[in-house]
Amino acid sequence: MPGVTWSSRFRLGIGEIDEQHHGLFSLANRLDAAVGLGAGQQAVSETLPELIEYVKTHFAAEEALLAETAYPEHAAHQAEHEAFIRKLTGFSQACKSGIPTVPADIVAFVSDWLPAHILGRDKDYVPHLAENGIE
Ligand SMILES: [Fe+2]
Repeated sequence: MPGVTWSSRFRLGIGEIDEQHHGLFSLANRLDAAVGLGAGQQAVSETLPELIEYVKTHFAAEEALLAETAYPEHAAHQAEHEAFIRKLTGFSQACKSGIPTVPADIVAFVSDWLPAHILGRDKDYVPHLAENGIE
């Protein structure tokens, strides 16, 4: 299982966001561990909704900061968030309706997306937020 390991390179220096990113890693790892133990579909149907709720709360907090500072890339950033939620929701619904999903694929998707998004799109807004006094 790939998993995601939190390290200081993911720290953006914005307390609220760093704390939530850390929380996301914890949930992703809980999903990874459960799938690794062979809990499969059940782990996905139990943990994924929790992850989706946390992701929604986190994205809303992040987007509020981008909106209040009139971040020029706000729309593109938001679109990336929405695509991630759509994908997770699709997995979750397939799982709930008994359509066979591959739990390892879900874990791999989340484990790839989270670090790439934080080190890419999220890191990009840090100077803009700092200019606006948010850190
Ligand atoms: Fe983001």
